[in-house]
Amino acid sequence: MVYQSLYRKSIDEKEKFWKEQSERIPWFTEPQTILSVNEQGFYRWFTDGRCNISYACLDWQIEQGRGSQVALIYDSPVANKKEKISYDELATRVARFAHGLQSLGIGKGDTVVVYMPMIPEAVISMLACARIGAIHSVVFGGFAPHELAMRIDDAKPVAIISASYGIEFDKKIPYKPLVDQALREAVHQPAHRIFVQREPGYDKLEKKGEYDFDNLQTFEESEAVPMLSTDPLYILYTSGTTGKPKGIVRDHGGYATALAFSMKHVYDAHAGDVFWAASDVGWVVGHSYIVYGPLLAGCTTVLYEGKPVRTPDAGAFWRVISEYGVNVFFTAPTAIRAIRKEDHEAALLSPYKLSSLRYLFLAGERCDPATFHWAREILQVPVIDHWWQTESGWPMLGIMMGVEPLPVKAGSAGLPVCGFDIRIISEDGAPLPPGREGLVTVRLPLPPGCLPTLWKNDERFIAGYLSQVEGHYLTGDGGYYDEDGYFFIMGRVDDVINVSGHRLSTGEMEELVATHPAVAESAVVGIADELRGQRPVALVVMKDGRQETEVQLEQELVSLIREKIGAVAFFRNVLLVKRLPKTRSGKILRKTIRQIADGDAYTIPSTIDDPVILQEITGRLKEREIGRIGEKNVSGN
Ligand code: COA
Ligand code: AMP
Repeated sequence: MVYQSLYRKSIDEKEKFWKEQSERIPWFTEPQTILSVNEQGFYRWFTDGRCNISYACLDWQIEQGRGSQVALIYDSPVANKKEKISYDELATRVARFAHGLQSLGIGKGDTVVVYMPMIPEAVISMLACARIGAIHSVVFGGFAPHELAMRIDDAKPVAIISASYGIEFDKKIPYKPLVDQALREAVHQPAHRIFVQREPGYDKLEKKGEYDFDNLQTFEESEAVPMLSTDPLYILYTSGTTGKPKGIVRDHGGYATALAFSMKHVYDAHAGDVFWAASDVGWVVGHSYIVYGPLLAGCTTVLYEGKPVRTPDAGAFWRVISEYGVNVFFTAPTAIRAIRKEDHEAALLSPYKLSSLRYLFLAGERCDPATFHWAREILQVPVIDHWWQTESGWPMLGIMMGVEPLPVKAGSAGLPVCGFDIRIISEDGAPLPPGREGLVTVRLPLPPGCLPTLWKNDERFIAGYLSQVEGHYLTGDGGYYDEDGYFFIMGRVDDVINVSGHRLSTGEMEELVATHPAVAESAVVGIADELRGQRPVALVVMKDGRQETEVQLEQELVSLIREKIGAVAFFRNVLLVKRLPKTRSGKILRKTIRQIADGDAYTIPSTIDDPVILQEITGRLKEREIGRIGEKNVSGN
């Protein structure tokens, strides 16, 4: 009953529990107030504590004797580079760059956008901002300039830190033209633009306010600035239901406490261990478990600039695990599916010894049972699906391996993690019994580490998360729990989809599709994809009198989404239809379209305006061989 008793304590005696956990991190001023409510009625953790997460990740580790231990391993099959950086060296490089930022007048409360590939300077930039109290906002390098521009206009950064290029397989993707294009689109103009030169002189840095990253790494070093626990550490934009991304805010003290707790209790990772999250610094997984979590715990973290396959082959992950003695590995199910597709028999694993590996953690999307079983069989270690989101910052469901290695169930994201009081609630707000699918909510207060609000947008925070179920945080996911208390997360209940573990908004895609002059109306839905989990498909009704063919419109819309959101959206198909299926009140039946495409059983809603249109859609999907269409189990009500 170790898990049960610890979990109960985290819910029933939350202040005592989190006060004890906060003692895992170094404070300049220890918090006396553990949990409080601010003037907007939002919960806050450790309001009077002062700390600095960059100090906790670096200086404090060195004080404990870890200066010569490797803090960060950079492994890049695409740049053909490997580098091991000790805590001493990382601290120096961070403190020097922090000083460089300060020399530009950047300091506490300023925002800084980081648009970088997976190189050590990305980590250094984040830690340097945190050190001087500047709020970083990392934008995933796979996003197009339009996405970057929206984030610039919302975060209003004083500086952008970027690099000459990212590398996708064998292709260089120059970043400066993307930054320049974003700045042409953005209204807000940051005073400083800093570029890491991956090859000397790659970018022409001639304009006022443009700097070479290395020239800002002076010999002078900056000390960590004491921050209030509740001061913002970063803003991380994530997709919502509209075209405008949501700026998730994270604080210093609550986040550090939660991450330190999770490293030990969820991941069973300890000082000296090698921890590898094969994600990207542009996502929350990268923030929490490439950068801050492992360093806070005194681990060695791996920064891998490559893919699970084709860099150079499907044995890449196994090579990294064996080469560096990775103890805890975290990736997305998509990555495992990509490996399984190319190397079903795991022949590429046999040259490597993976004896260091203790666990494989999976998140980002639901892990289908087939992937779960395959990974467990080939790796012979516990495979743990765990569920969380940008908003939570750390896992909400999982098996807490550092507490009690309880059994896992294939297809389930596990049990509630300490601090999260997870509930399943019906659309009208009633709690549901085991086996009944409903909205997944968390009873307030959320534990430390979760979003305190959205960046300069309390109203959207309340409207999007707090207003549907009184006293609960709405996660946006649907699911159920079984008689043993295991939860099953079945997918989003809103317009958010997960493509290769990348969170994207079909609402945003629909808004973009609507800008095409030939489009009268459209519905973009996420359909099941064997490799990527989901991918978007658009159904379009064309304006009368337009001459475009389906092929032509498809090409134009595919280019539009690629140009505005990025190739990662994997938007490939547009279907012309005469009408969209709607209820009599005009609501588009997106869920029914998705069910048809996925070959799932569906019920024809009694409120449907014209059921015949569903047959047309089924026919069109079949004709184009899109989705897994089946007409079985269709019923009316
Ligand atoms: N910068 C620029 N472009 C990027 C990019 C980045 N960081 N990441 C992906 N892209 C591009 C790809 O090059 C590709 O472009 P293309 O259409 O010109 O070929 C497009 O976006 C689609 O990429 P993707 O869906 O990733 O397909 P892929 O064939 O390149 O790779 C996988 C497939 C499964 C190997 C890859 O998606 C993967 O590694 N997934 C795991 C992702 C992950 O770990 N997510 C977890 C976040 S927690
Ligand atoms: P992100 O904010 O990008 O981390 O995406 C969060 C969303 O991804 C969640 O709301 C879920 O829809 C989905 N997700 C993440 N992890 C899991 C998981 N283990 N099981 C099911 N869905 C998941």
